[in-house]
Amino acid sequence: MNIEVVSGRILEKNYELLVLGAFEGEDLRGVSEEIDHALGQEISKIIKTLEFEGKPKQTSLLHTQGRISIRRILLVGLGKREEFNLEAVRTASGKTARFTRDLGVTSYATTILGDAEKIRLSSIVENLVAGCELALYQFRRYKTEDKESPKKIDKITIFAESPDSVDEVRKSILTAQIIDRGVSLARDISNIPSSDATPAHIAEEAKKIARENRMKCTVLETKDMEKQGMGGILNVARGSLQPPKLVILEHNGGGEDRPIVLLGKGITFDSGGISIKPSEKMEEMKHDKSGAATVIAAMQTAAQLQLPLNIVGITPLTENLPSGSAYKPGDILKIYNGKTVEVISTDAEGRLIMADALAYASKYKPQATIDLATLTGACITALGGVATGLLGNDDDLKRKITSAGETTGERVWELPLWDDYKEQLKSEVADMKNVGGRPAGAITAASFLSNFVDYPWAHLDIAGTAWTQNGSPEKPYIPKGATGVGVRLIIEVLRGWKS
Ligand code: BES
Ligand code: MN
Ligand code: ZN
Repeated sequence: MNIEVVSGRILEKNYELLVLGAFEGEDLRGVSEEIDHALGQEISKIIKTLEFEGKPKQTSLLHTQGRISIRRILLVGLGKREEFNLEAVRTASGKTARFTRDLGVTSYATTILGDAEKIRLSSIVENLVAGCELALYQFRRYKTEDKESPKKIDKITIFAESPDSVDEVRKSILTAQIIDRGVSLARDISNIPSSDATPAHIAEEAKKIARENRMKCTVLETKDMEKQGMGGILNVARGSLQPPKLVILEHNGGGEDRPIVLLGKGITFDSGGISIKPSEKMEEMKHDKSGAATVIAAMQTAAQLQLPLNIVGITPLTENLPSGSAYKPGDILKIYNGKTVEVISTDAEGRLIMADALAYASKYKPQATIDLATLTGACITALGGVATGLLGNDDDLKRKITSAGETTGERVWELPLWDDYKEQLKSEVADMKNVGGRPAGAITAASFLSNFVDYPWAHLDIAGTAWTQNGSPEKPYIPKGATGVGVRLIIEVLRGWKS
């Protein structure tokens, strides 16, 4: 998307459409007042008659009938000024982008929405850009006609009232575009069906991303994983004709610092295996690679932002299918750190591949590890699509993530990881079972993972937030399908990181 910033006299511009933001119950100021005046108080009238009150997501379109050189004005509600935050910016901006696209307009201009006295201008601009770019994302690569959407915005102009701010605004646009490209990449990887997004295909994509962004990329093949004793991923992969891959991306921007490890579950399709899932909604299990998608995308983003940190991204990739060679309930596996697991359900496969990856991460002596996984239906039961589940062993790390969740709107909510829950995983024949029964399913899954970490660690269960489903909040900047959740969250954590 081509996004530029301009300043100057607003009444001299000849835009197809200009977006003006309005707070609930307030008079117009600045550029809005200037345009209102030129239009004979037309905008004030709309507000006075309560046709448009400035409520969030509310819009009102006005044709200027040649009275000024801007053809249309689109008013968008920002809600109450006291409640103004970055979510209001993303929502208003996403709403106007979609509205404008549906109108069939191909370019538009927008003022900087909101109150730059309350929130830093750079944050407002980044989220203004995110709002439109993320709202305009479309997954069309399998459409045979109109692969390119017939309605498409190709240029957005940001009008900065103050000429002095143009450089700052331009910088924020570029930063936002790097992050939004990351979110789109994560959405694409998650949306692509398992027949195309195989472990091998994703590994090739990761190599390409590494080449283009000066990262190191290592791919562990079956034979490497056999040598390393990764009994989790190898056994889950046994039912599939697709060979598993373990991809490691490294961004080295932090000198001698110990790295931060990001780890993402990459089940390219989760049928449940021998413990097969019901067929209803099984197609959504192509999204079971969303954690890996987010980690690969966050690595690309971190590299492009040139973050001054060492970051390692690890993604175990495999399908989970039933077949004559598949692993079975009752099997006992040995994970990379030597611990044994009795398989109760082959559908609790995510924790098995994550166990290998988490244990493997230890060799990097990480300052901290954050994992993302579409791990449990139980997490959806607990939090729905509104928040990602957060569990971990380090309060400072959890606080950083929680705070980034508020800023980015990718909210997380903590569940307890008390030792009491370990009881449910006790096995008669192995060190532990891979399921702990129905009670507290999201917690027992995380509790299982805790057996494989020996460093500060946070686990994000994104089962409810990785794609839009029943219970997902309606947000204009989140189209149907994969959300790319976690990219903006992780990048926010990393941008604020002090080693
Ligand atoms: N990938 C699923 C979790 C999932 C289910 C995510 C639905 C999003 C929507 C995971 O591999 C799984 O099957 N978990 C089981 C665990 C159970 C067997 C202990 C679950 O949640 O039912
Ligand atoms: Mn499963
Ligand atoms: Zn799964």
